[in-house]
Amino acid sequence: MMADDWSLSSWRSKPIKQQPPYPEESKEVLKDVISQISQMPPIVHHGEVDRLKADIAAAGRGEKLILHGGDCAERFQDCTSTMIENKLRILLQMSLVFTWQAHIPVVRILRGAGQFAKPRSSNYETVDGKQVPSFRGDNVNGFDISERTPDPNRLMRAFFHSSTTCNYIRALLGGGFASLQYPHAWNLDFIRREDVRGDYNSILAELDHGLGFLRAARVLDTTPGVNTVDINISHEGLVLDYEEALTKKVGTEYYNLGSHFLWIGDRTRQLDGAHIEYFRGIANPIGIKCGPTLGGDELSELLLRLNPANEEGKITLITRYGSDKIAQKLPEHIEAVKRSGAKVTWVSDAVHGNTYTTDNGFKTRNVSNILAEIQQSCEIHQASGTVFGGVHLEMTGENVTECVGGSSELQHEELSQDYVTFCDPRLNYTQSLDIAFQMSNFLRERQQLSRSDANKKRKLVN
Ligand code: PEP
Ligand code: CO
Repeated sequence: MMADDWSLSSWRSKPIKQQPPYPEESKEVLKDVISQISQMPPIVHHGEVDRLKADIAAAGRGEKLILHGGDCAERFQDCTSTMIENKLRILLQMSLVFTWQAHIPVVRILRGAGQFAKPRSSNYETVDGKQVPSFRGDNVNGFDISERTPDPNRLMRAFFHSSTTCNYIRALLGGGFASLQYPHAWNLDFIRREDVRGDYNSILAELDHGLGFLRAARVLDTTPGVNTVDINISHEGLVLDYEEALTKKVGTEYYNLGSHFLWIGDRTRQLDGAHIEYFRGIANPIGIKCGPTLGGDELSELLLRLNPANEEGKITLITRYGSDKIAQKLPEHIEAVKRSGAKVTWVSDAVHGNTYTTDNGFKTRNVSNILAEIQQSCEIHQASGTVFGGVHLEMTGENVTECVGGSSELQHEELSQDYVTFCDPRLNYTQSLDIAFQMSNFLRERQQLSRSDANKKRKLVN
């Protein structure tokens, strides 16, 4: 429920971080563009937003698993049929692995169809020895150094690229793309480790066999919803002029209808800041990035401010500490949430805390650190009696070379071969599948542990 002292523009009176430094002469253009965007039809429907909130609540209870993934910085140039199909394909294939291996339904949230804005630690960066304004995402300025001046017209382009992407995803799903993702179409060619390829192939053969049974028994053709899946879209809610323009009153509530799900970045979660002010008034399910610098008390206050009614499914805590810090920080955050009695869904962003730069200047991540953070997250939640609700990943359906390791054993020396990200390094197609297969093992172990705990309890009762 919306607070009495909130309005669509109340964030404007609060201190704000990470907004595009538009030149004075483009301020009128900004107003004009924002006014045009606010007249546009929504990209998503509020009924879909409510459905996602219910799904996130289910993931918070351990009944579903969230798979939240996509680019760090989505690029306008990637708004092509092939790129969108590849993004969707990897999410669908990973979902099949989770559901087959760990027997859990998956809630898919694409980090995309609007993931353009990027927070930056500095207003300037050095490119080829020259100081230039930092790249803040395709909706603000261009990656090419000749286009670094922020241009408000890019917000309109962002709107159209988001809608076009979302439209094609809807068309693909409506046309049966999901049911084409059966195991025989998977590409395991980039796996260098023969033993792993063998393991994956046998799992896929079993999965194909299971799906064959469902088809023969006519379950696949006749059960409503089995051949189609939901995909939700999401982005970091960063440029508040844009977010405000896409926020609409529906009944007594305000929904951001530019996306199903939005999250607050680790750099814009100040209690009295503009972002928290904007986010506390919208009805969408929202994420809060929780990094190592977030204190337990601060987290409790954020939860109270953002979800005073303690609505289930409203808040997802996206924890991102790094595999070397999670053991200390996650228990602290879990304790704070327990003390506050807040209902939250825990998701592990296992990428942002595991980024490092190689000697020759490539920002990268190692698949084994990412897996280590996911595994620890599962174990810590298991030991704390809380629920591991899913994973948040920067990933792509392409065979890029941005992260190292995994079953393709990508080496540091190979990063330069196809390093195309505009921001953080993404897991490639094969590395994303690795995460799905390996993570399913932790989830199975968790289920076995829960089952043996339940059996022990039953024995005690008997
Ligand atoms: C991101 O998700 O790309 C990001 C900038 O993360 P964080 O806010 O957690 O640093
Ligand atoms: Co990132």
